[in-house]
Formats: sequence, C-alpha cells, structure tokens
Amino acid sequence: MLQWTGEQVFAKTGKPLDSLQRSILEGTLQGKKYPEIAKNSNVSHHHVKKVGSKLWKLLSDVLQEDIKLTQSNVRSIILGKIELSNIYNSNNYVQIGNGKINVCGENNNSPAESRSPSSERDNSDKVDRERYHDLRDAPELNWSCDRPQALSTLKEWIIEKNTRLVTLLGLSGIGKTALAVRLVQLLQDNYDYIIWRSLENSPTWSDLQTNLMQFFSQQQATQFLSPLDYVRSHPCLIILDDVQQILQSRELAGEYQPGYEDYGTFFKQVTKFPHKSCLLLLSWEKPRDIATLEGVNRHCRSFQLQGLGASGREICKERELTDPDKWLELIHLYSGNPLWLNIVATMIIELFNGSVAQFLSCPTLCLGDLEPLLQKHSQRLSSSEKQVMFWLASQEVAVEISSPPETIPLSPDDFFTAVQSLRRRCLIDKVAANGRSGFTLQPVIKEYVKNQSWARSN
Ligand SMILES: Nc1ncnc2c1ncn2[C@@H]1O[C@H](COP(=O)(O)OP(=O)(O)OP(=O)(O)O)[C@@H](O)[C@H]1O
Ligand SMILES: [Mg+2]
Repeated sequence: MLQWTGEQVFAKTGKPLDSLQRSILEGTLQGKKYPEIAKNSNVSHHHVKKVGSKLWKLLSDVLQEDIKLTQSNVRSIILGKIELSNIYNSNNYVQIGNGKINVCGENNNSPAESRSPSSERDNSDKVDRERYHDLRDAPELNWSCDRPQALSTLKEWIIEKNTRLVTLLGLSGIGKTALAVRLVQLLQDNYDYIIWRSLENSPTWSDLQTNLMQFFSQQQATQFLSPLDYVRSHPCLIILDDVQQILQSRELAGEYQPGYEDYGTFFKQVTKFPHKSCLLLLSWEKPRDIATLEGVNRHCRSFQLQGLGASGREICKERELTDPDKWLELIHLYSGNPLWLNIVATMIIELFNGSVAQFLSCPTLCLGDLEPLLQKHSQRLSSSEKQVMFWLASQEVAVEISSPPETIPLSPDDFFTAVQSLRRRCLIDKVAANGRSGFTLQPVIKEYVKNQSWARSN
C-alpha cells in the first residue's frame, strides 16, 4: 500500500514522498496514532499533525477521492483504490454514478470469500461493501436544509429496530429522494449491497426482478433464484423511488396497476422472513397492502415526510431573497416544501426583485409554476376524493368528520374511505386539539382546489 501510494504521488506530482511523509503514512497504515509516529520519527507531535494533515490533502487530490481523507479513513480508501485498479486490470467494468464509484465486476468472489482472514478483516469488509453499491439512479444530493429529526427516526427504525420495509411518503418536491440519498450516505457501512432503482417508467416486477438479479448475481459466487434470497443472505439496502408510478390513478389510493401486483407479493415477503436487509420505498402514496401490513407486522413502517421548518431559510438565503423577517411566513405558507419554495423564490425574484415582504402583501396566494405539479396529484384522485377535497377547500379551519356533510352525496362508509385514502396520499393534514382530530388542506392545495373546474362543477 505504501509503495502503491508513493507511485501514485510520484506519477501525479513528479515528486516522491519525503521520509517524514512516508513515516506518517506507514505508521497510519499500521494503525499507529500521531504521538507514536512522532516518537518513532524523533519529531514533535505538533509537527507530525501538521505534516499529516497536508499529506491527507495531497493524497485526496492525487487519488481524486470525493471523501476527504483523514488519518482514520486513509487505509480503507487506499485499499479500495488498489482493489479498483486491480479490477480495471482484470477487465471488469466500472460504473460511475452520483459522483461515486460503483463497481459491477464480473466473476468477482462473494464478499464472504474475498474477506481477508487476517486482522485486516474490518478494513477489507469496508472495502468490499463499497464495491457493491449501485446508485446510478440516485440523483446528486442538494442538501442545504438539514432534517435531523427525520434522519434520526429513519436511522433508528432501520438500524436499531431492524425495520425491513420502510415507506417514505410525501407530496412531490417535499424532499423524499434527497432525504433517502442522505440516508444512504449515513447508513452505507451497514450494508454489503446497496441498490437504488427508480420506478418512474413503471417497470413490471419481472423487469425489475431481472435487473436486481443481474446486480446481485454479478457480485456473488453463490447464485440464488430470487432477489428475496439475496436479501435474506446478506445485509442489503434496496431503494425503490417513485413507487406511485406502479399504482393506479383515478381510484382510491394505493391500488397496484393491473399486472403490477407481484410487487406487493415481494414487499410482503420482505417483511415476513428474518434478515438484516431493508427495502426503502419512496412514494406519493402508500400502497394499500402496506397499510394493511403495518397493522400486523412490526417490521413494516411508514414515515410521512413533513415540510422544512426554520431550516428552509437556507433556501431563501441561497436564492438571495430579502426581508429575512418574513422568510418563516413564506416557508409556512408553502408548507416547507423545498421544491415549492424554490419555484416561488423564482417568482419572487422575477416579479418582486427578491422582496418576500412585497410578495406576501399580494392579496391572493400565488401558485404560478406550482400548478402543473399539483395537477399531477389531482389527476390521480377518484371522484369521491375530489368531492372531499372540494368540501375541505371551502372550510376556513380544520373540521371533524363524524359524518359526511350534507353537500357530499356519499355514504358514511364511502366518505370515510375517501378521507382515509386522501391521508394515504398526504393530501390532507390531520390536526389534533383537545384529544380530537380534525382535517384540513395546506394553503397551496386549498388555493389550487378552489381554482379547479372539477371543484367548481361539484
Ligand atoms: N434538505 C434539502 N435542502 C435543500 N434542498 C432540498 C432538500 N431536500 C430537497 N431539496 C430540493 O427540493 C427539490 C425536491 O426534492 P426531491 O426531489 O428530493 O423531492 P421528492 O419528494 O423526491 O419529489 P418527487 O416525489 O417529485 O420525486 C430538489 O430540487 C431538491 O434539491
Ligand atoms: Mg423523488
């Protein structure tokens, strides 16, 4: 490792590592800390620390590593790079996705087989794990607004409570994909295999299954018959984004499109058997059978992602909006949805030179470019759901639903089912007061519904 790294530095800079740099690198690769290296090299601890931090920066540049090198990660990163260069030389192929290197080598040994039996096991484990990530479908992360609570809850569910199926729900633009990318960064060391696939183009289960099998089987010497076998044999994290695309429109929420029911079977099986893997689904709406499963299987849970709170101010700052004292009001009005906030920020810049105060003084809530986004949600609604939405849009405050209002010609059963379905689409909010719950619409959605012809014709 020392020799390989020295060669890389020489090839890139034309200069070899000097003797102190070599001692620091060698000591670090042997697991020594700065004080011991300093003692062996007869120099001060302070000096070794200073030279060391410059050395890690130099190595980050030379190895073109996107993670900053430090004394604690340098060994695993160099090992990974050496492995990669070996794979290049043995004609396997490397895919770059999401700014990260994913290797899909052919005829590789299984992680278990390629693990070193020596004391290097921990480090080689880590290297193996990095090799089996396929995040090509995951977008680049834009993470200016932190979401510590959502991250810690999901981390707890997935790692500590070993929840096998987690559904992350929320309207378009609320930040599900971004949150999941961040979560993968945080949890990646817990998994041998990580694969991210988008269902945006509605692949059939058979197509997705083939794709998953290709990914898993390229990495393993032992060939299994189904993705479930891999999920059960190794810790895997599978992320399926845009799950709403396999669900039906114009029906109550969460029904699979005809021919897509096998997805439901897979979801159910993932929760049924013991293993250390997790299937993370990102969706606008909750599949109906998952709602049922949650009631009976503690390994299946859903998390509805709420809007950004005060951290949304970062978006206002990035977009250089003015009147910071009004930013929270703006965030609240647009429900802390980062996409909506960015879209409305563009409008504020184009029409009001960035003045949030001037924008908020307009008598009506402006939707502008939000309309087409909201339309995608409204197009999915059943007729009974539209009736409930229209009724809720006309209410000033949250309302209780002990029975259907006179204006809605639905049986109590159909009315409650429609309300429940809208909740599963994250389209109506439940507010609790004095032990009772009421329902309401977010301001943007209310404004959108009021402007719809389907609402006016009700
Ligand atoms: N924490 C965050 N900080 C800053 N920007 C964010 C954050 N989360 C999301 N965004 C931005 O908001 C936009 C929408 O986020 P994202 O694509 O994750 O939403 P989504 O819920 O997955 O939407 P959809 O359901 O349509 O796929 C993106 O442009 C993203 O960069
Ligand atoms: Mg998304």
